[in-house]
Amino acid sequence: MTGTKRVFIKSYGCQMNVYDAERMGEALAAEGYLPAETVEDADLVLLNTCHIREKAAEKVYSELGRMRILKDARKAAGGDLAIGVAGCVAQAEGDEIVRRAPTVDFVVGPQAYHRLPDLLRQSKTRSGVVDIEFPAEDKFDELPRRAKPGLIARGPTAFLTVQEGCDKFCAFCVVPYTRGAEVSRPVAAILREAEDLAAAGVRELTLLGQNVNAYHGAGPDGRIWDLAQLVYALAEIEGMARLRYTTSHPRDMSDSLIEAHRDLPALMPYLHLPVQSGSDRILAAMNRRHVADDYLRLIDRIRAARPDIALSGDFIVGFPGETDADFEDTMRLVDAVGYASAYSFKYSPRPGTPAAGRDEQVPEAVMNERLQRLQALLNAQSDAFNRSMVGRTFDVLLEKPGRRPGQITGRSPYLQPVHLSAPHGAIGEIMQITVTEVAGHSLFAEPAGAAQAPSALALGGAA
Ligand code: 5AD
Ligand code: SF4
Repeated sequence: MTGTKRVFIKSYGCQMNVYDAERMGEALAAEGYLPAETVEDADLVLLNTCHIREKAAEKVYSELGRMRILKDARKAAGGDLAIGVAGCVAQAEGDEIVRRAPTVDFVVGPQAYHRLPDLLRQSKTRSGVVDIEFPAEDKFDELPRRAKPGLIARGPTAFLTVQEGCDKFCAFCVVPYTRGAEVSRPVAAILREAEDLAAAGVRELTLLGQNVNAYHGAGPDGRIWDLAQLVYALAEIEGMARLRYTTSHPRDMSDSLIEAHRDLPALMPYLHLPVQSGSDRILAAMNRRHVADDYLRLIDRIRAARPDIALSGDFIVGFPGETDADFEDTMRLVDAVGYASAYSFKYSPRPGTPAAGRDEQVPEAVMNERLQRLQALLNAQSDAFNRSMVGRTFDVLLEKPGRRPGQITGRSPYLQPVHLSAPHGAIGEIMQITVTEVAGHSLFAEPAGAAQAPSALALGGAA
C-alpha cells in the first residue's frame, strides 16, 4: 500500500505520558506518519499505557479487545492495522500483553522510546512481537529534537520532561520499576527545547518528572544544577512567562526552591506535594522517609515564602495495616494543611512492589468508607479555596476556545480553569481579570476594571 500513513496515539495516565506521546508522534512523523484524527483513520494505533494502579493497567486489555475487532475487519477488507503498546504496562507486563493479546505487533516501554522507529521497521519484516531492551541510560535526547517552530500545532502551554524515573522506592509504587532509576536531563538540552517551544508560541511550561524536585542535571558550567537553578534559567527565556513543575517529593523540597517561590514571579503559586498519609506509622511502612510533622513544618516554610500558594497532594487510603487511628491522622493532617486540590486513591497492590505481598490488606468496604470521608473533606477544602477567589484580580493565560461561542478558557496562577468572554485572537495572551463567579471547579471572570461597568450593575448582578 502506498500513500500517507497515519498514527493514532491514545494516552492514559500521567502528564509524562502526554509528553511522551508528543515525542513519539514526532519520531513517527520523521518516519512519514501523520497524526490520525480517530482510530478508524489510523494505520498504526499506539496505546500509551499506565501501570500505577490496577484499574489503569486493566484498561489496556479492554482497549486491545476493541482493537482486535477493528484489525480483523481491516484484514477482511484487504487492509491492515498495526497495533503497538507503549508506556508503563508495556514495560512491566510486555510478555503478558503478548500472551493475552496476540494481535499486538510490538511492545515498547518508556526506557526504549528512542528505538521506536527501529521497532516499527522490524515489525514490518518479522511477524509477532519485537523484543525490547531496557534500560537505556541515554534514553533522553535520542528522539529527534522536538517542537521546531511550526512542526506541530500547539497552544500556549506545554509539558517538558526534565527528569525521569525514581530512586525513592515507596513501598506501594511501581514507578521505580517501570520508569527506572532517576535520570536528569542536561540543562542545555532542556533550555534548547524550551527556547524552541517559546519560539512556537508557548508561554507556560510545566516541567515534568516523577520526582522532579530531585532534579540534578549537568549544567553548562560543568557543575550539577538543581531545580531552582533550572527554573531561574528558564525564566530568562523570552516569552516564557509562567513556569510550573510536578511531581515533587517532600524530602527534596530545597530551601532554594522555596525561595524561588518567593522571588521568581514566573514561578506560579501552585505546588503539588504528595504526602500520601498523615500517620507516622504508615509513612514509615510506605518508606516515605519523613514524618507528618516534617511535612507540616515544610508547608509552613513554603507558605511563609509564598503565602497565597495553592497546595495540592496525593493520598492513599487503605495501605496495608492502616488502622482507623492511622486514617484519623490523615484526616487531621488534611485539616491542618488546607488543600486547594488533591487526588486520593484506594490502595491498589502492584505486582513486584514490597507492599503488595504484605498481610494486613485492608478490606474493600473499609477503604471505600475512608475514601468517601477523605474526599468529602478535600472537596470541601477545594470548594472553599475556589470560592475565596470571587472578587480577586489576577493574570490568566488564555489557552483555548471555551465551550460557548465567544468564550475563552485559561488558567489562573493557581491552576484553576477560568472562563471569560474574549476574542479568539487573544489566545496566548496573559490578561488581568477579576473573578465574578465560581461553578464547580471553574472560575468565571471578566477583564479587570470591567467589573464595575454600569451594564453589570443595571442587570442587577450579584455583588
Ligand atoms: N495504589 C494506590 N495509589 C497509588 N499511587 C501510586 N501507587 C499507588 C498504588 N499502588 C498514587 C500515589 C501517587 C499517585 C501518582 O498515585 O498517591 O502519588
Ligand atoms: Fe513512586 Fe513518587 Fe514514591 Fe517515587 S517518590 S516511588 S514515583 S510515589
